[in-house]
Order: sequence, then structure tokens, then C-alpha cells
Amino acid sequence: MVSSVYQQLQETTSFIQQQYKITPTIGIVLGSGLGNFTSELNVEKEIAYSDIPHFPVSTVEGHSGKLIFAEMRGKKVVAMAGRFHFYEGYTPQQVAYPIRVMKMLGVETVLISNAAGGTNAGFKVGDLMIIKDHISFFTVNPLLGKNEEELGPRFPDMSEPYNHELIAKAKTIAKRLQIPVHTGVYAGVTGPTFETRAEYKLLQAVGGDAVGMSTVQEVTAAVHAGMRVFAMSVITDIGIREEDNVITHQEVLEAARNAEPKLTSIFSNLVNEL
Ligand code: HPA
Repeated sequence: MVSSVYQQLQETTSFIQQQYKITPTIGIVLGSGLGNFTSELNVEKEIAYSDIPHFPVSTVEGHSGKLIFAEMRGKKVVAMAGRFHFYEGYTPQQVAYPIRVMKMLGVETVLISNAAGGTNAGFKVGDLMIIKDHISFFTVNPLLGKNEEELGPRFPDMSEPYNHELIAKAKTIAKRLQIPVHTGVYAGVTGPTFETRAEYKLLQAVGGDAVGMSTVQEVTAAVHAGMRVFAMSVITDIGIREEDNVITHQEVLEAARNAEPKLTSIFSNLVNEL
């Protein structure tokens, strides 16, 4: 008989809890080019994804990915080194799986970062945007299919996917650190193509301030599970808005790396205040 997701999660978490006995309360998922944040962590235990029962396995050879259990600013955190994207061929349920594992381990708050294209005409490359809401219609919902009540309700409320209190805290922190931040709506897409000119225009017209290929499915699973979410984008390109500009993955990664120190200081101060 095929086991339920809940049963799989129980097996996954009991395996992890045998390796690491402490309960993390904060989960961290980092975006492309933003992984250096893990150098801020006092690592206590690392577990390779490939060793964890039922965990999705990384498709990129040599980048197997791991869960990092650590102490940071007096808090116990679990961070994903390597995340799963729908465009890599994972199902939306697989993309959501690590978030559900975090919940089962005791995580209450999830912090997420990503690299995103700026569709808001006022955004520049290197800007930061606190995500206040998202549009998920251009991706595939991870809650499709039979609902398992142990994981959350059939029809989750989505009136506040991004916790207002955490947004307010992050704004205060950014102000104190003199780091300018925008607040806006993230439009989730499947990728892996960057958008066409017409698509960037469409996303802007429907209220998207930024567009990206991650985050939305993870946030949906986290909200379904009743966790608090904070998420932030680094604007790595401004779409192909102008006559002759193009977008490369290289420039996305470079822009993310350049902006990373700003994002890292906001995240670490936020961890401190949770
Ligand atoms: N579109 C989609 N995803 C992205 C982009 C973009 O312009 N930049 C970084 N991730």
C-alpha cells in the first residue's frame, strides 16, 4: 500500500530526530546566489538530503544538498542548503516536502529568500523587496489532490500568507541598518524560461512587483501547515522591458551575490528578534 504523505513525514522526522535531538523553531530557505547566509550559522549537525528517507533527491550532480541544524543568535534553526524547484522536474508536492518536514520538527517560523525579476517600474537591480503578498496562478498549487487533514485544512485561508508582524519588524530593522527596502507582490511562475516582454508587461499589469520561479509553493505549504512566513526578494534583473536588453542566469546570480550582505543582515537581525 502506498503510504500517505503524513506517514512519510513521520518516517522522515523520526530519522532526523534520531540524528539530532534538539527542536529547531526557525526554518530558513535561501535563494539562488544567496546561500552564503549559512556562514552566519554555528553548525551543530548536517544531514545530506540523500540520506533522509522520502526526501527529494537533488537533480544536479555534485550539488546533493543538505539540511543544516544550527544555532544562530541564541535560536535553534534548520536551514536548507539547496532547495527544490518545480522547473527542475520536482512535483509541487516534492517542492513543499521539506517545509512540511520543518513543521513536523517543530519549526514555527520560516524565513525565505529568492532572486526575482523586477516588474515594478521603480525597481533597480540590487534592490530588496519584502514580499507582502503573492500571486500563485502562474504556478501549480502543491495542495492539489487529496487533502490530508493531519497536514492542514482542505481550503486554507490566504488572507495573510506573509506575517504582518514580521514584515513590520523587518522594516524597522532595515531602517535602523539604513538599508532601503521595497514592499511588494511576488508573482510566482514555473520557469525555466525567463519571461517574454509581453509576459513581464502582463505580470506588471496584474499587480506583480517582482517575478520568480520559487517560494510560492513553499509558502503555500507553510501557510497550510499553520507556520508564520517572512520572505524577501533580491531584484536581480528588471525583466526585458527595454528595447534591446536580455537576461542571463549569470547576471541574476551576480546581482544576487552583490546584494546578499544586505539581505543577510536583515535576516540575522530578524532571527535575533524572533
Ligand atoms: N523571472 C523569473 N524568475 C527570475 C527572474 C525573472 O526575471 N529573475 C530571477 N528569477
